[in-house]
Amino acid sequence: MKRIWLKLAILTVLFLPASSWASEISPRNCTWCHGTGAQGYAAAPRLAGQRAAYIAAQLRDYAAHIRDNPFSKQYMWGAAANLRPDTVRDLAGYFASLPPKAAQDGRRALAEKGQAIYVQGIPDANIVACLACHGPGGQGVREIPRLGGMSYFYLKRRLEEWRQGYHSTPSPMPMVANSLGTDEIEALASYLSFVK
Ligand code: HEC
Ligand code: HEC
Repeated sequence: MKRIWLKLAILTVLFLPASSWASEISPRNCTWCHGTGAQGYAAAPRLAGQRAAYIAAQLRDYAAHIRDNPFSKQYMWGAAANLRPDTVRDLAGYFASLPPKAAQDGRRALAEKGQAIYVQGIPDANIVACLACHGPGGQGVREIPRLGGMSYFYLKRRLEEWRQGYHSTPSPMPMVANSLGTDEIEALASYLSFVK
């Protein structure tokens, strides 16, 4: 009998504080969607190795409902609501510090074409070289995101959704995406998914 009460007492201690943790955001609030090691899972993109300034900017765009893609509304408006500025900074810094893995889920046969567009653009079709902003290894700079090794499906969806008018901001991307056809998007997303 005594042991049962002892067990109950321990259980109470273990489970009562859980409700008060709920107000504190830890990376685990994020990785149950963004995957183990934040390497991405299903619709949720990889956060590991993403630029801290970019992560923080996106969280602000979600909270302000500026990033209004269908999955943004469904999954991220809630997750980004009411995060304090110092929490945003800490989460962004934490995820940026994790080592990223390449998704490698694009089509190999398209990678060479994708690389050519990434590096040189297609001047005749008014397609700019992505390298100019995203860097030679797709590593990004400041608020410009790292693209190297992100999932084919995520990159393709993101570019298509800009073409459809979602997440319309003064950033160069709505215009860049509008210059791309479906073939170019598939080639670029394939190439980038293999970049390490
Ligand atoms: C319920 C699932 C879910 C939870 C919880 C969640 N996310 Fe997300 N997150 C997603 C999905 C799905 C997307 C893609 C949405 C889109 O396309 O806009 C996303 C997108 C993002 C992006 C944009 C990344 C990019 O490359 O543009 C960031 C940054 C992000 N999440 C950070 C976080 C952080 C930080 C947390 C924890 C506070 C979190 N997420 C919690 C599902 C989730
Ligand atoms: C003039 C600079 C510039 C050029 C050129 C450019 N980008 Fe971007 N890109 C950006 C910026 C800035 C962002 C962040 C946009 C935001 O905050 O909404 C971005 C974001 C992205 C994202 C979103 C990544 C994520 O994690 O959600 C993708 C995908 C992308 N760019 C692909 C491309 C591709 C492919 C090309 C070449 C065809 C390209 N970009 C050319 C500046 C550029």
